[in-house]
Amino acid sequence: MMTSEPYSAKLSKTGMLLPYNTRTERRLADLREYFSDKRAVEDALSKGENPLIYVVYEISRKTEGELNVGCTIIYPGKVGDEYYFTKGHFHVKEATSEVYIGMSGEGLILMQDKEGRVFIEEIKPEMIVYIPPGLAHRSVNTGRTELVFLAIYPSDSGHDYETIRKRGFAKLIVERDGRPAVIDNPNYGRD
Ligand code: F6R
Ligand code: ZN
Repeated sequence: MMTSEPYSAKLSKTGMLLPYNTRTERRLADLREYFSDKRAVEDALSKGENPLIYVVYEISRKTEGELNVGCTIIYPGKVGDEYYFTKGHFHVKEATSEVYIGMSGEGLILMQDKEGRVFIEEIKPEMIVYIPPGLAHRSVNTGRTELVFLAIYPSDSGHDYETIRKRGFAKLIVERDGRPAVIDNPNYGRD
């Protein structure tokens, strides 16, 4: 069996995980196929606006049986009516689950099975969310401050982004009368 060194890391409420080994940044241009209001996306990009939507700091491992730990910071904002969110993915290894721990801010997690059934839970401080095997997941910042949460998941999960990129989620989380609302995605399933 390969050995892995124990470690401890500092996790701040602002989402900094130190030391980390990867930092992933997603801007509007990386998410242009994901937001539903394509005109709002193209308008912003054509004006040279390419805002930062989210950042992930991660401590990852390679061996089966180990855990990856990642901290995500989703900035507050909207594209059209739709709140900023993560791309969302299924795990390649279907039998893997995940736990999210809310650190600061407020948001929702959209989960969806292969048949398109959707489950929604809150992400906020002092709450954890358990994502069982087989559910795609996307986090959405519905607040006015940064949404920060910690994710812990098996290191051999793998990420399938393609299914969600092509089909989307069956629900969208949008602002209506100043508040978050869950609506049907009119383009769900259209590749
Ligand atoms: C890992 C996980 C999270 C996300 C992160 C960014 O399995 O679910 O650490 O990777 O919140 O979201 P994506 O990966 O969908 O861009
Ligand atoms: Zn995941």
